[in-house]
Order: sequence, then C-alpha cells, then structure tokens
Amino acid sequence: MHTVAMHSQIPVPWWRRGAFYQVYIRSFADGNGDGTGDIAGIRSRLPKLASLSVDAIWINPWYPSPLNDGGYDVTDYVDINPLYGNLDEAKALIAEATDHGIKVMVDLVPNHTSSAHRWFGEALAASPGSPERDRYVFRDGTGPDGGLPPNNWRSVFGGSTWTRVPDGQRYLHLFDPSQPDLNWENPTVRDAFHDILRFWLDLGACGFRVDVAHGLAKDQTFPDIDHDADDADETDQDRVLARGAHPHWDRDDVHDIIRGWRTVLDEYPDTVMVAEAWVANWDRLARYLRADEFHQVFDFDFLEADWDASQMRHAIVTSLDGAASVGAVPTWVLSNHDVVRHATRYALPPGTRSKTWLLDGDRNDIDDALGLRRARAAALLMLALPGSIYLYQGEELGLPEVYDLPVEVLDDPVWTRSGHTEKGRDGCWVPIPWTDDAPSAGFGSVEPWLPQPPGWSAFATASNTDPSSTLDLYRRALELRRIHMTKDEDLEWLDLGADVVAFHRGSGVACVVNMSTSEVPLPAGEVLVASGPITDGKLATDCSAWILV
Ligand code: GLC
Repeated sequence: MHTVAMHSQIPVPWWRRGAFYQVYIRSFADGNGDGTGDIAGIRSRLPKLASLSVDAIWINPWYPSPLNDGGYDVTDYVDINPLYGNLDEAKALIAEATDHGIKVMVDLVPNHTSSAHRWFGEALAASPGSPERDRYVFRDGTGPDGGLPPNNWRSVFGGSTWTRVPDGQRYLHLFDPSQPDLNWENPTVRDAFHDILRFWLDLGACGFRVDVAHGLAKDQTFPDIDHDADDADETDQDRVLARGAHPHWDRDDVHDIIRGWRTVLDEYPDTVMVAEAWVANWDRLARYLRADEFHQVFDFDFLEADWDASQMRHAIVTSLDGAASVGAVPTWVLSNHDVVRHATRYALPPGTRSKTWLLDGDRNDIDDALGLRRARAAALLMLALPGSIYLYQGEELGLPEVYDLPVEVLDDPVWTRSGHTEKGRDGCWVPIPWTDDAPSAGFGSVEPWLPQPPGWSAFATASNTDPSSTLDLYRRALELRRIHMTKDEDLEWLDLGADVVAFHRGSGVACVVNMSTSEVPLPAGEVLVASGPITDGKLATDCSAWILV
C-alpha cells in the first residue's frame, strides 16, 4: 500500500490535491477581436472553467514581450503585454476568478529575460566587467583573437549558447539568442525576483509555475560539456542527466535560489510554487520538493510513459515513492504547451518518438480514434491518482496535435534554430475551438494568429451537444474527484492482469484502466464514470472506469 502519512488534525493544503488548468493565453480565447487570445477572453470563459471544477488556472507568460518564444522572453516582469490587456484587467480577472472559486497562478521566467529587456539594453551599452553586464553572463571569446565561443555548450533550441556582441564579448543563452540568461550569482538579480514575486502575490496571485527551475545555477568555471556522454542519456526535452555535476542543469547550488523564493511565498498563506524541472530521475526531482522548496514539481515520467501498463505502473510507483521520500505527493500532467498532445502521442505505434514523427513520420501510422479513446482513459487514470493534477487547455475537448500546419506559419524558434530538423511546438498551440462559429470556431471574431485546421469546430460542437463527449467526461470526473479522490492519499494496487492498471483508493473507489487487447471484468460495484463501453460488467479495451466498491 502506498500511503503518505497525513495527520488528521492538520488540514490538507488546497494545492496538494488541487486540479489546475493551464491557460496558454494567446490561444485560449480572443476577447478583443485581434486574433490573439487575451485576458478579456479568459474572463469571458470563467463560467466554463468553473463548470469543470478546477481549483486554479496557470496562465502562461502574459508579460510585455516580443513573443520570440511565446512570451518566455520577458521585457517587464511586473506588467501585462498590451496584446493581452493591462494590469487593471489582470486584477479584475483575479477578482472574478476568485468569485468563481478559481485561483490564478502566474508563470515566472527567471532563467532569462528578453534581449529587449531594459537590463539587457543597459548591459550592451555598458562596458565589459560593468555591473550592468554582470546581471547577465558575459564572457570573452577564446582562441587567438577571441573568435571562438567561451565553451561548447549547446542551446536547447539548437546552435551554440553564446552570441557575440559588437565589442567581442559573448553572452550566454541556454535557449534562443533573444533570451539572454540572467546571472543568479548576482544579488541584484536575486533581490529583483523577490520583488517580482511579492508584486504578483500582493495582486492576489496564488503562486507561480517556475520556468526552467533546473537551469538557473551555472558552473562558474564554464567547463566544456562531454556531449557524447550527455547525448547517450538524453531523452525528449533535452533532459540531460545531471546528477548535480552538470555545468548548467540541475546543479546542487540551484536550491539556495529556490529556498529564497520559498521564504517569500511563506509570507503569503495558501500560495504554491510548481517547478518545471527536467532532471534525471526522482532522486534528483525530490530535492526540488523538499519542505522548504517547491510545493509541487511536474512529473514528466508519467507524461512520457507509453500506453503500456508496466511503464505506467512503474512511473506511478516511482513518483509516489519519490514524492513520499520528502513528505510530498506527485503532480501529474499528460500534456502542456511544450509537448505533443497526448491524444496524438497515444495514437502512434508504441515506441514512436512523437517529436521526430511530427517532422517526417509516416502519416499512415496514426490512428486518431485510438488516440482519443486512450486519451480519455488516461484522463480517468490521472484524475484518480493521489496528488495534484494539471490539465492543458483543450485536452478536455480531446484535441489532437495539429501536426500538419504549413511550415510558413510556424512560430516556434525551435523550427529555425534547429535548421528545420525539429518541427517545434506550434501544433499544440492552435487556438481553442469553442463553437462552430466562423471564422475561428468561436475563439474570436477574426481569423486566429495560428490557423485552425478544417473540422476544428467539430471538437467544440461535440462537447456542446453530446452528453458522452470528452468535455462531459472531464466534468464528471473532476466533480467526482472532488468527492471521492480526496479523502486520503492511499493507493493499493489491484491485480486484474499484467496489462491492466488497477488500484483502489482508500476512499472506496477503484480505478481500472484496460490497456490489454481484450475486455476486462470489472470489480463488483457501482460504476461512477467510464471513458468507454462496459458490456455485461466488462470494460472495453483502451478504456477506464471508476467503481465504487
Ligand atoms: C520552458 C517553457 C518553454 C520555453 C522554455 C524557455 O521549457 O515551458 O515553453 O520555451 O522554457 O523559456
């Protein structure tokens, strides 16, 4: 039995079991008719979000930004991008969301600013060795005339991590050249971010999703990386295996920075901080989840598991044990704005690398109906697990990845920086369909910033009219989760066969996920919700059910 000991007299904080909904703002809903999603759009959809029984929304970066990387290139951390609205609208959103019982989480981007940030302008204008340059990571070039980069580090988006400025120095950017890395050794940077945290918490935000939390600390000797060793271990998302000694990923000294933020959050009751940390394993991940660090860390092992019972069970056990080792619970997620949507991942043959498939995979390989069936089943699996969960906008409609966007419209810097060898993330950013109204399936009143494929509105129509729609499944499951999945944090495995993931929650509910190729007899009891057909007490393949036993 996996049990996380909780003392009954201590109330469980809301976020520990919370259901969070990720709003990728520019693609969520367009309230002002310019083709881009905005705060007005979010405000207009709050009743819909409330009807989903989510506790909070996480809004992707909404700050002023040239949008070279979808807003993860920030020019001002305490303002709103005029494309999306202004601070008064942000305040109104937080107030209205609160009225709907929904909290608002902001995206904090501490690893880098935009190159259009005032600080970077000042750094360029100042001389080498100046305090202005010291907010970033500037180094001299190497080689006879300084013509070579300081080291061989590679940017996540492709190419070197160093870009040369006119006086010959180079600045570090783990991502795009328009995203210079901040120097977290510099106390000015640390203090500025404490002020940024306070700014949003004072405005009523419930906390932060922290971008690239594993990347802030750098080895100050800037040694070369043994890329052969790194590549051997690399998985999707450049999850280089760090184990504390990598020059820039998951270094042990990053935790001092995190502890500093936590002291600020602890001044504000009921706030929460979730880490995006792509690290080697749960041994490393659990460090971010220690009592004086993050409240939550996304569990990307679960997201990356194939549709395979033993892989899923393994991911679940590892996460429960890893989180329990520091007195915490896992934070489950199936999709986000950086990965191929799971309705498409599960539609591909086992072992397919979905990112590579996007570029040049065989289109005959994809089985959309299968992907959707599994995505629905996966939702019931995730929603039954102990801990908190994050949904990515559109998964509640069963949206697939739009893998065939014309390359001319691709906006992700990955496409260009990789020399067109990686397609990037645009396929999961396609604006949400809400109705079947032209010209944007109810997203707004004009053509959206990224084209929606033919038939996109069908996902909305089905959701609005069909009582067995995916949206309806999510609504019911999220509602039931509030009732049945929150009594405790227990999970006891049930043996219904090697290809069936089945467990019992202490609260009297069993979850059965049939990943086998034949029907599976369900335990006796009342079926609370099912993602697909149950005939004579048997659950169809690639379906899930919750049973009150
Ligand atoms: C994170 C974000 C991703 C962004 C990158 C650089 O991985 O989730 O969208 O491109 O950081 O900020």
